Amino acid sequence: MNDLLKGKRGIIFGALDENSIAWKTALEAKKQGAMFTLTNAPIAMRMGAIQKLAETCNAEVIPADATSIEDLTNLFEKSKEILGGNIDFVLHSIGMSPNVRKGKEYGDLNYEWFMKSIDISALSFHKVCQVAEKTDSMNEWGSIVALSYIAAQRTFPDYSDMAQAKATLESIARSYGARFGQLKKVRVNTISQSPTKTTAGTGITGFDVFYDYADMLSPLGNASGEDCANYIVSLFSDFTRMVTMQNLMHDGGFSTSGITQQLIDRLSK
Ligand SMILES: NC(=O)c1ccc[n+]([C@@H]2O[C@H](COP(=O)([O-])OP(=O)(O)OC[C@H]3O[C@@H](n4cnc5c(N)ncnc54)[C@H](O)[C@@H]3O)[C@@H](O)[C@H]2O)c1
Repeated sequence: MNDLLKGKRGIIFGALDENSIAWKTALEAKKQGAMFTLTNAPIAMRMGAIQKLAETCNAEVIPADATSIEDLTNLFEKSKEILGGNIDFVLHSIGMSPNVRKGKEYGDLNYEWFMKSIDISALSFHKVCQVAEKTDSMNEWGSIVALSYIAAQRTFPDYSDMAQAKATLESIARSYGARFGQLKKVRVNTISQSPTKTTAGTGITGFDVFYDYADMLSPLGNASGEDCANYIVSLFSDFTRMVTMQNLMHDGGFSTSGITQQLIDRLSK
């Protein structure tokens, strides 16, 4: 399928390297005819990989710490200037927990870091929506998507305070979706993605084991980063105009499986 996003303008957060879900989304969005700006935290820029993506996609890179209203305001204003009009789609593909990164036990969390996890991984989504609204940057029937994980509903060891961050993120999508829908017919959703081998994903202790477990408990297997990019693009397209305020499971069936034959076979060995 081609030209699903023809003529649409967007902003893509979170492409760190070629494994990033945002990186794959940028490639697919470009293929589907969109133009967009790329953004990431200034610290992530120093690694340089995003410039390579920018060249491939003929996109400009605008650094922004997603927790800074000032940076976000600059990002939306500059993006509109560069792209020549208002924005049709935004991808929030951002997550970070200092407690996870530093291997803190759930019973020994550092609360300053907890606040950082929430600020970076959840409140930043509210900030993105709020700045988009205040700068009047979205076109009618625009689409804003953030990425979540099923640890928002069920516990997973070592996902730690990111579980609270994702629960908040999904709640923000509902509340802002209600507001933005009425104000400007903008839809706001989260996608709950299978475990995926990226920098953020593999930073969780035991990732390989629960990656394999999720794969066995999903009738279709784990959804890949490429699959996720395709799904995100469909949510930016005009084929999903009435989908809003949802947490959409993109997980090969994991979330509604009790057990699979594959797992029975494995466990009965
Ligand atoms: N990988 C998985 O298993 C998985 C599963 C479900 C959901 N997700 C979610 O998908 C999203 C994208 O993660 P990914 O797996 O592609 O990993 P990734 O590490 O490639 O992307 C995370 C991004 O967040 C950015 N970021 C961190 N702090 C920031 C800040 N202050 N301002 C702006 N950007 C900041 C990083 O620079 C990076 O680009 C995250 O929300 C993650 O929680 C990932």
